[in-house]
Amino acid sequence: MSPSSLSRLSGSPAEQPADGGAPRHVAIIMDGNGRWAAARGLPRLEGHRRGVEALRRAVRSAYDLGVRYLTLYSFSSENWTRPAEEVSDLLNLLRLFIRRDLTDLHRENVRVRVIGEREGLPRDIAKLLDDAESLTRANTGLNLVVAFNYGGRQEIVSAVRRIATAVQEGRLDPAAIDVASISDHLDTADMPDPDLVIRTSGELRLSNFLLWQSAYAEFVFLPRFWPDFDRADFEEAIASFRSRQRRYGGRAARAGA
Ligand code: FPP
Repeated sequence: MSPSSLSRLSGSPAEQPADGGAPRHVAIIMDGNGRWAAARGLPRLEGHRRGVEALRRAVRSAYDLGVRYLTLYSFSSENWTRPAEEVSDLLNLLRLFIRRDLTDLHRENVRVRVIGEREGLPRDIAKLLDDAESLTRANTGLNLVVAFNYGGRQEIVSAVRRIATAVQEGRLDPAAIDVASISDHLDTADMPDPDLVIRTSGELRLSNFLLWQSAYAEFVFLPRFWPDFDRADFEEAIASFRSRQRRYGGRAARAGA
């Protein structure tokens, strides 16, 4: 993160505001970079560049608003099917983001985690992701979870394979497989499920994002394109979240009931 961006974070981690009812885990589908650029007659790359700026703003807002986990859908398993030039632009933006912002993130006590398939990634990208995780492993502030080469179905397939192997090797009794054991084999094993999933750009779908983990998440769909996403949008989404009654399949508590 550039000095001008994270230096504007309010207070040190120790002075972070109490959460005030903020969702513990917010996950965002950052959609609409291409349409944002097209609407201005700009190349898609410019939309993605502005998308990275919006990403920096989102990290700052999450930190200020007391969110503990922020998961950002940066590159899906399906994004490889885009034209080679766009894939290369997105990979370059990730390289730039980590090289420029990692030191600041670390200084701000942010712990970077990466979910998604690491195998088959360009070697330098895999190393950057590993380095970002190792450098920040002991940090105790915001958890910034970068979903890169991530697909919810693929993640579940990998989990099922590992569980099947454990059964085959006699380490696990099939009757003992439950919700927790599946959660424990996902990339997000030690993280809380998302409380709030935000998607920008007006599309109303999940696009293979955190399929298992979002079972009881609240959803907020915003019409704005991702490069325009700002602090006010983040606050609006959280206000909407706070107005919801989460029942997890149970019944609403009634006074005197
Ligand atoms: C959707 O825009 C966005 C993505 C493909 C992923 C998000 C990417 C960024 C925020 C920039 C890159 C950042 C990193 C760190 C890799 P879209 O192209 O699908 O927009 P469209 O639906 O309007 O075409």
